[in-house]
Amino acid sequence: MTKPAIEALGLRKSYGHKLVLDGIDLRIPEGSIFSLLGPNGAGKTTTVQILSTLIGADAGAIRVAGHDPATEPDRVRSAIGVTGQFAAVDNLLTAEENLLLMADLRHLPRAEGRRRAAELLDRFDLREAARKPASTCSGGMRRRLDIAMTLIGDPRIIFLDEPTTGLDPRSRRGMWQLIRELVADGVTIFLTTQYLEEADQLADRIAVLDRGRIVAEGTAAELKSRIPGGHVRLQFGDLAELESAAGAFGVLARDDEALTLQVPGDGSLRTLRALLDRLDQESIEVEGLSVHTPDLDDVFLALTGQAEGAQEVLR
Ligand SMILES: Nc1ncnc2c1ncn2[C@@H]1O[C@H](COP(=O)(O)OP(=O)(O)OP(=O)(O)O)[C@@H](O)[C@H]1O
Ligand SMILES: [Mg+2]
Repeated sequence: MTKPAIEALGLRKSYGHKLVLDGIDLRIPEGSIFSLLGPNGAGKTTTVQILSTLIGADAGAIRVAGHDPATEPDRVRSAIGVTGQFAAVDNLLTAEENLLLMADLRHLPRAEGRRRAAELLDRFDLREAARKPASTCSGGMRRRLDIAMTLIGDPRIIFLDEPTTGLDPRSRRGMWQLIRELVADGVTIFLTTQYLEEADQLADRIAVLDRGRIVAEGTAAELKSRIPGGHVRLQFGDLAELESAAGAFGVLARDDEALTLQVPGDGSLRTLRALLDRLDQESIEVEGLSVHTPDLDDVFLALTGQAEGAQEVLR
């Protein structure tokens, strides 16, 4: 098994009387993308802040790049990069100056810092912004600059807290491409997002955080398969066929106007074959069929407290 880049056991944090993280366990292998999903206030940023040494935890055993953020923050900091939810870009400085400042903070030798800054300006398509104050850059450019600043120290583990919030669809895709390239180089990515499609596209594993607890964890496919709502939709040529099918399968969601029937199921080949065999046995003619698998939106809504009783279904 791959060595974990990030490990946490029983992570807890309160602010005053408010319990923010109520015992979180994480194990993130090197070179993978992990996504922490959750509604506003779930505790995503708090988790990132603890793992990246910015704040302390109240309890829990943590290892980031093999070190404890509480006792060896410098060792952790030299291995990680953090792009916060709110950009760290200094508005009065130009893009180039922002990068050089970051290189200084990272204690890179001058020449090395200049070389890295030039490389990143190129790579992030920021040459145009190199010499003008960051305040005059567009939101997308500032986001790119923010990530470029994170990369200046060549981190092996990168925390991205909602990196694509406020980006247009093209810039968002550009960011996804960049994240994939980083992972191809062996970098580990810890990504928080509210965009379920983003987690679906990128993450090897996803954890859904709700009110300080991880309510589900797995690959996107695993999470989707745990949610009810998958079904096969059968299309009939006339009402008589629909009636006989409804009779054969029992009470189902039916639409007499559209001549369709919804049969619950995960849409796997095995269940489809069984379904078709059954229709054959009953000599029922079907005109068409489509498979509906729940998407991550369904998962998110079912898991994060909006749907009464949804969590019982998953246990
Ligand atoms: N410094 C602080 N002092 C007191 N309470 C805080 C502090 N920081 C965060 N909290 C509280 O902790 C909870 C979790 O906040 P956190 O920022 O981790 O959520 P989040 O999942 O990142 O939300 P969002 O999607 O809005 O970014 C919230 O209720 C927030 O009000
Ligand atoms: Mg946040």
